[in-house]
Amino acid sequence: VSLKDFNTFGIDVNAKYFISVSTKKELIEVLKLPEFQDYFVLGGGSNMLLTRDVETPVLHVNLKGKEVVAASSETVIVEVQAGENWHEFVLWCLENNYGGVENLSLIPGNVGTSPIQNIGAYGVELKDVFSHCIAIDIKTQEEKVFTLEDCQFGYRNSIFKNEAKGNYIITSVFFELTSRKHSLNISYGAIQQELESNNITNPTIKDVSNAVIAIRQRKLPNPKEIGNSGSFFKNPIILKTAFEALQKNYPNAPHYVVSDTEIKVPAGWLIEQCGFKGKRFGDAGVHKHQALVLVNYGNAKGSEILALAKKIQETVLEKFNIAIEAEVNVIS
Ligand code: EPU
Repeated sequence: VSLKDFNTFGIDVNAKYFISVSTKKELIEVLKLPEFQDYFVLGGGSNMLLTRDVETPVLHVNLKGKEVVAASSETVIVEVQAGENWHEFVLWCLENNYGGVENLSLIPGNVGTSPIQNIGAYGVELKDVFSHCIAIDIKTQEEKVFTLEDCQFGYRNSIFKNEAKGNYIITSVFFELTSRKHSLNISYGAIQQELESNNITNPTIKDVSNAVIAIRQRKLPNPKEIGNSGSFFKNPIILKTAFEALQKNYPNAPHYVVSDTEIKVPAGWLIEQCGFKGKRFGDAGVHKHQALVLVNYGNAKGSEILALAKKIQETVLEKFNIAIEAEVNVIS
């Protein structure tokens, strides 16, 4: 089976076995099969770079459904099945006037994989609306609840990228959303500018979502048109002293303060300074509006994208003495 349509990078590799499950019962039955011990778990395929054919059986988690499971006067708890598309879930929230995920509009991928890297954009992270999730232990097929605390969320990080890596399949995620009064997060400069340019002074969650969609559409390539996995790298966090040294040569370097001693520098800016923005090498390239995003113009091999990523990492290290780390899960 070709995986081309199952990864947003559009990389054409084959899976030896491909199993799609649409209920928890089916999932548990498959995990009990004695033939297989190990699985390659596939959700929306939006955060991976496939560089070779996949020998491990691919398990496509396609559980569907969204429902309100509890409500108080101000909030609702909704349970969303892992195979639901993230952005469709956001649109459903807007239709029902549930607030909290509007800043996370248009993020590719599925709900079930959103906790793994604690997806985030424009001042909001998944952890801000996350209540808990249910996962199945691959070895024992037992169900386990992960609370907010259990998940150990950090910047593009969680327990599912560390101790729990490869051991669980998330089957549903519970969100706590506002249903009456919404607390909007419009601290991000680009959102403010977008609202102002549309003369919106008293924004609704729908207005914030529309602003985010407009910003993303200007900067980020649509994976349906040009293969990509969003940010390929994480923004590096460096020591304040190192940043002050960098500022001597680049007084306008963009940055975010993380703590008294640490500064986060946008990797897209570092990559642009190295001259890679908009560059193309065969079908592998660096997006012209956002250097953090690597793209597949058509038939790039995963190995070509990976070679470009390595070249970028080396150049950034040489020029700035800063190591940038892949955010995308590289399957090699
Ligand atoms: N910048 C450049 N050149 C570029 C790209 C960015 O100079 O080619 C500068 C911008 O001018 C700006 C700064 O870098 O001053 C930050 O850029 P931007 O607002 O586009 O955000 P980012 O830090 O590059 C992060 C997330 C994005 C998320 C945006 C908005 C990571 C790895 N990426 O990007 O997430 O949408 O902030 O919150 O943290 C993703 O994870 O796939 C993703 C797209």
